[in-house]
Amino acid sequence: MNQPLEGKVAVVTGTSRGLGRTDALILARAGADVIVTDILIEEDEKLEETTEKLGPMAQMMAQSKTVYTRSTAEQIRALGRRSAAFRMDVTNREEVKSVMAQVKEKFGRIDILVNNAATLDHTARLEHQNDDFWERDLHVNLTGAYNCCKTVWPYMKEQKWGRIINMASVAGTLGGYGQASYATTKAGILGLTRTLALEGAKYNITVNAIVPGIINTEAFQMTNPKMRERMIERTAFKRPGKPEDIAHAIAFLASEEANYITGIGLPVAGGIDLFTF
Ligand SMILES: NC(=O)c1ccc[n+]([C@@H]2O[C@H](COP(=O)([O-])OP(=O)(O)OC[C@H]3O[C@@H](n4cnc5c(N)ncnc54)[C@H](O)[C@@H]3O)[C@@H](O)[C@H]2O)c1
Repeated sequence: MNQPLEGKVAVVTGTSRGLGRTDALILARAGADVIVTDILIEEDEKLEETTEKLGPMAQMMAQSKTVYTRSTAEQIRALGRRSAAFRMDVTNREEVKSVMAQVKEKFGRIDILVNNAATLDHTARLEHQNDDFWERDLHVNLTGAYNCCKTVWPYMKEQKWGRIINMASVAGTLGGYGQASYATTKAGILGLTRTLALEGAKYNITVNAIVPGIINTEAFQMTNPKMRERMIERTAFKRPGKPEDIAHAIAFLASEEANYITGIGLPVAGGIDLFTF
C-alpha cells in the first residue's frame, strides 16, 4: 500500500465525528501517526457541561453517543500507526499549548496540522442572528484555528517542514444565506491561510485551505430537509460529497508531492460553486 505520509506526525482538531474523524483515519492509512483531538471526548466528566455550552447539536450528539474521539485513536492504532486522543478545546489557548507540548514530547514532532473543528449548527437571517452564537463561531472557527497554527508554528519552523490545512467553506467564498457568522469565519480562514502561506514559505511550511461544498456528515444530515434538497440540486453531480473526498484532498496537500502548493483554497465542492442556469 502506498504510504506517502510514513514517518509524519499529524494533529487533527474536531475529530469526534464527521470530516475530522475521516481525515484522521485516511491520514493514518496514508502512513502518518495521527493524534485526534476534540472538545467532546467519550467518558469525559465535563461532557454535559461542555455540550450545554456548545448548544443543541453537541447535546444531541452526546446524548446519542455520537462521540468517537477515543475510539478513532483505537482504530488508528489497529491500523499499525501511533495515536492518542486528547480533549482539546481550540478556543482554550492554555489547553492547546499543553496538548501540543504533550504531543511533541511523546511523538517527537508535529508535521501536519488539520484545523477542522468548527460550529455549523444554525442558520438565521441577520435580524435573528443570536449574538452569543456569533461570538462563539468567531472564537471556535477562526480564533481556534489561529490558536492551533500559532502553537505548532515554532515546532514546524524548527523542523523546516510543516503542512497546515485549514477548513474553509463555499459559504466563505460565495456567502451563505442565513450564515452571517459561519460565512464570516470561513472567509477569515482564507485570509489566515494566505497570510501564513507567505510567512511560512521560508521555513518550508505550506498552508492551504480546503473549500468544501456540501459533504454528507452528521452535521449536514441535521440541516432542514428542504434546504438540503436545494443545496444538492445546486451541485453539478446532484449529490453531496463523501467525507473521504475531503480527506483524500487533505492527505495530498499534506504530502511531499504537494511541496510547491501553498496559499490556495481548494474547492472540493462537486460544482456547487459553478454558475448554473
Ligand atoms: N459538512 C459539510 O457539508 C461542510 C461544508 C463546508 C465546510 N465544512 C467544514 O468542515 C469541518 C467539519 O465539518 P463536519 O460536517 O464534520 O462538522 P461537525 O459539526 O460534525 O464536526 C465539527 C467537530 O468540531 C468539534 N468542535 C466544536 N467546537 C470545538 C471546539 N471549541 N474545540 C474543539 N473541537 C470542537 C465538534 O465536537 C465536532 O467533532 C468544519 O470546519 C466545517 O465548517 C463542512
